[in-house]
Amino acid sequence: MCGIIGFKGQGKVTDQLVEGLKRMEYRGYDSWGVAALTKNGIFLEKKVGAIGEGKLSRPPADATMGIAHTRWATHGGVTQENAHPHASSDGRFVVAQNGIVENYLELKAMLTKVGYQFKTPTDTEVIVHLIHHRLKQASSFREAVRQAFLKLAGRNTIIVLDQQTKSIVAVRNGSPLVLGHLPKGVLLASDTLPLAGKAETVTYIDDMQLVVVDGDVSFYDVKTGRTLHPKRQKLDLVEQKVDKEGYDHFMLKEIVEQQHTVVEAASYSEKELVPLVAALKHARNIYTIGSGTASYAAGQVAYFLRTIALLPAQELRAYEVDSYLPFFDSHDLLIVVSQSGETADTLEAVRKAQIERVKIASIVNMIGSTLSRISDYPYFSRSGPEICVVSTKAYTAQIVWGYLLAMTYAGRFELAQKRIHALAKQLKTYFQPKTFTTIKKLIPELEKDQHLFVLGKGQHFYTGFESALKLKETVYMHCESFSAGELKHGVITLIKKGTPVFGILGDDQYKNDLLVALAEVRARGAKTIGIAAENNEFFDLHVPTPDGGDLDVITKVVPCQLLSYFLAVHLGNNPDKPRNLAKSVTVK
Ligand code: AGP
Ligand code: GLU
Repeated sequence: MCGIIGFKGQGKVTDQLVEGLKRMEYRGYDSWGVAALTKNGIFLEKKVGAIGEGKLSRPPADATMGIAHTRWATHGGVTQENAHPHASSDGRFVVAQNGIVENYLELKAMLTKVGYQFKTPTDTEVIVHLIHHRLKQASSFREAVRQAFLKLAGRNTIIVLDQQTKSIVAVRNGSPLVLGHLPKGVLLASDTLPLAGKAETVTYIDDMQLVVVDGDVSFYDVKTGRTLHPKRQKLDLVEQKVDKEGYDHFMLKEIVEQQHTVVEAASYSEKELVPLVAALKHARNIYTIGSGTASYAAGQVAYFLRTIALLPAQELRAYEVDSYLPFFDSHDLLIVVSQSGETADTLEAVRKAQIERVKIASIVNMIGSTLSRISDYPYFSRSGPEICVVSTKAYTAQIVWGYLLAMTYAGRFELAQKRIHALAKQLKTYFQPKTFTTIKKLIPELEKDQHLFVLGKGQHFYTGFESALKLKETVYMHCESFSAGELKHGVITLIKKGTPVFGILGDDQYKNDLLVALAEVRARGAKTIGIAAENNEFFDLHVPTPDGGDLDVITKVVPCQLLSYFLAVHLGNNPDKPRNLAKSVTVK
């Protein structure tokens, strides 16, 4: 949910910290802060808003190490005071946190009783006072942090900078943390993006592990306090520029990039897919799972497995997995879809499935993420960093990979590759100024509406959900998707004169059902907008899109992504950083 950075090494410490935060800005952007250890104590500066240019008012030149944080507020408003890092009352140390201290009220009551005064309503301040309280008896600073951490309920990752021991102490439980080994020094971060191009090797901190960075780097088990020797791993991540490359927003850049990323997602050889194809053959039950956009991609992957591979795959929502647990066992396979590989709901479902010995396959975008590391069959969607909080290219990449998998199972690997390359060409032709102009023409038709509806069916059942989610996320309008079949069972009461209803139509057996549904809503005054290759008499407005054949789900979602983008910009919203949203939802 937020981004944590820690640095000790050569170069200007505050510059390194700010650069790290910039590379993780998509993780949280309501406020940020930097703390650095100097000769004169701890320098601390906090600001409200996104990091932007990251200008500090008086960065120290003599700092030797520091920590930084970009916040996605959960407890306490978005203010400078509530921003992290939070300083201890004696100014000895500062703390930044990612997560939620679920028992913070209980801890706050105990700490108040022993005399601590709270300046903020944050759960983070509880951690600060708790460490301070433990310091009175603990044998070392590290020990005080460890003991305090053991008292925290919930998924939390913390980083502490201490003046007295000249050290950084970080503990992970839930939210990710990775330590990059630099030629001289270390860089700790919530994900690998800040480490790309800087660290050749990394140590992934696992849950309930503590790391101390002082003159040295040492690792400990939080429960026992015993020393650990985790493996250093090579970081196979090419440094990619986090740059808009001339586009006004990352969202548009990432939408247009799909002409390449669909091919990258399919850059697996048949041999590389064999282990998962074999697992599909042997599985008794096959489930696909994800959260949000990734759950729609998971639904689409299951659809391809059913319709192409003729396997009875079923989509589950990560946060609704519990009622399935009694039926999970070691003969089952769970295909997990996630851009970040760090979504708390998704990881929790995976852990529960692993207890039942279910095998885990995953399609993840972020290299080194928790999900890919705990999977039996890890695959990567290879879309490059997706910086816009709203997912676009990761979604279509996940779907392409699922298509390739289903086709490989069905013995049609080569054909799948051919079709994916043809899709890339169609997208290249589609991303032209003419298309953008056509889509922008819809803006006056929609900008004043409060409620929008989307209808899909069959292959476009999930395209509808994903399109509606894009509009909600960027335009902040109520937008709901239904199967065309659902309409007359209740939803039709919502249709009034002028209500915009999108119909997503492929050239398939459901086309007529969609046309009938559009005719029905139109008869009741709705304004119908057809997303289809050809125009039709039942459309009031038509958004032409190529017929994508087997991959029509991609050529049909793209105009919806573009519409969400242009409408959001027109309304003055920042589609890269929608209000209240964070990219990687590492809290529950
Ligand atoms: C995407 O536009 C959303 N912000 C959200 O639904 C996202 O897809 C979801 O939180 C899952 O994230 P993940 O793919 O990183 O697991
Ligand atoms: N719960 C903390 C807060 O509200 C941390 C949130 C975060 O992960 O950014 O400040």
